[in-house]
Amino acid sequence: MKKERDNQKEMSRRGFLKAAALTGVTLCVSPALEKVRAAEKAMNGRPSAADQNIPDGMAAVRERWTLGSGAAEFVVSAIGFGCMGLNYHRSEHPDERAAIRLIHEAIDRGVTLFDTPESYGPFTNEKLVGKALKGYTNRVNVTTKFGHKYVNGVQVKTEEDSSPANIRKVCENSLRSLGVESIALFYQHRSDPNTPIEIVAETVAELIKEGKVRHFGLCEVNADTIRRAHSICPITAIQSEYHLMHRTVEESVLPFCRELGIGFVPYSPINRGFLGGLINEHTQFSPNDNRQTLPRFQPESIRKNLRIVEALNAFGRTCGCTPAQIALAWLMHKGDFIVPIPGTTKLSHLEENLRAADIVFTAEEMNELEASVSAIPVTGSRYDALQESKIQK
Ligand SMILES: NC(=O)c1ccc[n+]([C@@H]2O[C@H](COP(=O)([O-])OP(=O)(O)OC[C@H]3O[C@@H](n4cnc5c(N)ncnc54)[C@H](OP(=O)(O)O)[C@@H]3O)[C@@H](O)[C@H]2O)c1
Repeated sequence: MKKERDNQKEMSRRGFLKAAALTGVTLCVSPALEKVRAAEKAMNGRPSAADQNIPDGMAAVRERWTLGSGAAEFVVSAIGFGCMGLNYHRSEHPDERAAIRLIHEAIDRGVTLFDTPESYGPFTNEKLVGKALKGYTNRVNVTTKFGHKYVNGVQVKTEEDSSPANIRKVCENSLRSLGVESIALFYQHRSDPNTPIEIVAETVAELIKEGKVRHFGLCEVNADTIRRAHSICPITAIQSEYHLMHRTVEESVLPFCRELGIGFVPYSPINRGFLGGLINEHTQFSPNDNRQTLPRFQPESIRKNLRIVEALNAFGRTCGCTPAQIALAWLMHKGDFIVPIPGTTKLSHLEENLRAADIVFTAEEMNELEASVSAIPVTGSRYDALQESKIQK
């Protein structure tokens, strides 16, 4: 099966190259950017554990996967780290020193992809990540996002702002908060009905030429938006929600990404912790935790959806894996252009999650897992009506 998965990877890599040639998009890059790209290239390939100084047996992510293709290629660890919960939206969080220590533990265990935006906090998550990654940004990368609208530091939740002026403002703020010379991957967080995607792509392409941004990404967009944006500025990755309880992207976005050689970064890959199996209908979320407002995290929905966790537990028992590991390994078997970014505040969960990269399922096991989970209806929508209205269908 390992061989089968390697073959699959090779085929998808060839698909990337073909798609890059077919799209024929080119980009002018600055000398500074060339240097960073050369460093990225040096990280390419599949370094051994010894190359990364990761001791044998240590829970770690050792493989490097490629998001995007051609000029947009970005080599990252096969599992990233979502930094949001370190100080935002996930109830109890560690103090700053412990959060920084956890990020350093992730680096020691091979993680090179860290995700944040200005909107977590707002503004505080980027600063925390910037502090933690000081001195490490030659080895690891942080991705961030633009597009929410803020007035005097307060988010206007009914509107988005991807105007060129705001993209540029967020870029400057993020560079400062993260303490980097260029943003490794700059995503639009949510589409802005008032700014055509072509304008957004042109603005990011300019920032790339100026050496302030290295790669372009979009969140929660449909295939038409991806096509339009990609024809102007090659997209490295789409970041949207994707896990065993939310598979909408399989309809058109994922096949389209595969065809065009665009990477995919599933956010909330453990369904905001639910698929980790430690949440039940009695779980109390803190006021800072957005799960308390989400329909899928109301007690009645949790109670019904726990059958899905039971299915993961039953499947995991046959191979000695936890439900979180099953959820992550399933995503990774969907293609080597898919790099999940689970979040955690705990070293034990970090180690557990990284070990998911070592799990190999046969095609039959994948079918069995999917059949057992999809037989159980999911109760409760993932977002409230306002948040859902911002997701492109
Ligand atoms: N683009 C977007 O619109 C968007 C939206 C949401 C999130 N994101 C990104 O995606 C990242 C991850 O999303 P997320 O935090 O919503 O969801 P997630 O990664 O699916 O789940 C995180 C939750 O799972 C728990 N957890 C982690 N590992 C576990 C394990 N092995 N067993 C049991 N529980 C475990 C964590 O609690 P512990 O701390 O106790 O481990 C945490 O509460 C964010 O940090 C952010 O970067 C992007």
